[in-house]
Amino acid sequence: MPARPELIVALDVADLASAAALVEQLYPTVTLFKVGLQLFTAEGPRAVEAVQQRGGRVFLDLKLHDIPNTVAGAVREAARLGVEMCTLHASGGRSMLQAAAQSVAGSGSPMRLLAVTVLTSLDSRGLEEVVGSQLDVAAQVVRLALLAREAGLDGVVASPHEIGVLRATVGPSMRLVIPGVRPAWAATDDQRRVMTPHEAAVAGADYLVIGRPITAAADPVQATGRILEELRAAA
Ligand code: C5P
Repeated sequence: MPARPELIVALDVADLASAAALVEQLYPTVTLFKVGLQLFTAEGPRAVEAVQQRGGRVFLDLKLHDIPNTVAGAVREAARLGVEMCTLHASGGRSMLQAAAQSVAGSGSPMRLLAVTVLTSLDSRGLEEVVGSQLDVAAQVVRLALLAREAGLDGVVASPHEIGVLRATVGPSMRLVIPGVRPAWAATDDQRRVMTPHEAAVAGADYLVIGRPITAAADPVQATGRILEELRAAA
């Protein structure tokens, strides 16, 4: 049985005050928080500092995708902010991924780099529109995860339904960070192929990223407690 996955709470809110209020409610029951595109665009590095000042650690989910020099610069700055994990698109290619990995290694930071493979919002038709030929989505996910590993990245962000195939292909050392998780008692919102925390834990996730079932709950502390209880039962 794999070790219990760690819960990451997604602070998908518009401003610093809302993010800080959630961290104050949930820390230290939860210590790892996701700062994503909305909050970072609104508040910048202050959002990261707001989490850290309250004792939290940060998963910076910016899904970087640009030329190697630019992405290397961006991850260097993320490392300076002291975030624990940062995301980039594997489809940026080997040179971009290697430049990012070298940039982090050169900075001496322990920050981990995680690859986004195929966005879960893309189905095979959407993927075909993007790349210009028919590709099997699952095969493309595996291809990009292997590329990320070769380039020196530390893990992959993936849908719960990809845990099995990824674990079998990239091995135990790559970290699998899994959104699209819904407790049986929560609304699925716009997430489609969801798994419960228990199922994702049993499948071998290292981290679960959960937002609205906690942040939109009437009582976020109680919702977190229920999820952690479910994870304990799976361990
Ligand atoms: O509110 P919810 O639990 O759906 O939040 C899930 C989080 O995971 C969001 O921050 C979202 O950006 C992120 N995510 C996702 N699906 C992906 C990749 C990331 O929902 N494929």
